Amino acid sequence: MALREILILPDKRLRLVSEPVKTITADLKKLVEDMFETMYDAPGIGLAAIQIGVAKRVVTMDLAKKDEDQERRVFINPEILWSSEERSLHEEGCLSIPEFYEEVERPVKVRVKFLDLDGKAQEIEATGLLATCLQHEIDHTNGVLFIDHISKLKRDRITKKFAKAAKRAAE
Ligand code: NI
Repeated sequence: MALREILILPDKRLRLVSEPVKTITADLKKLVEDMFETMYDAPGIGLAAIQIGVAKRVVTMDLAKKDEDQERRVFINPEILWSSEERSLHEEGCLSIPEFYEEVERPVKVRVKFLDLDGKAQEIEATGLLATCLQHEIDHTNGVLFIDHISKLKRDRITKKFAKAAKRAAE
């Protein structure tokens, strides 16, 4: 396992559309291990492979609370099959946009298909935090960030802030 660097806004790679995984290889399993290590270290509850610079449709997640045992979830080629018309607001954050949190409106319920680490097709219906997190991470696989769902004013403000910070760091 290896800790990987998390790409931060405005890194252009975050806007790439990731490629589907064709076969579950040993390399892919190693990528998933690295993603979990990186996600737990951050710490975060969800990570898409593109956030460590790998443009593959792979998502790791663990929504267990701090005092609970780990509950590792892996979604390969996740795809939303259905989403509810009912929508709700939840505060979101992103490891690629550190220390910025904003409410995002999304469908309350989604049905998602994906492959598990054995390459087996799975389908789940999600609500609550799982639904929010799945939509957020699936967005990542399509080059979409949660700030794309907030007002232009707020998005411009946070984008500028991160662009400035990146410029300063490069000096
Ligand atoms: Ni994110």
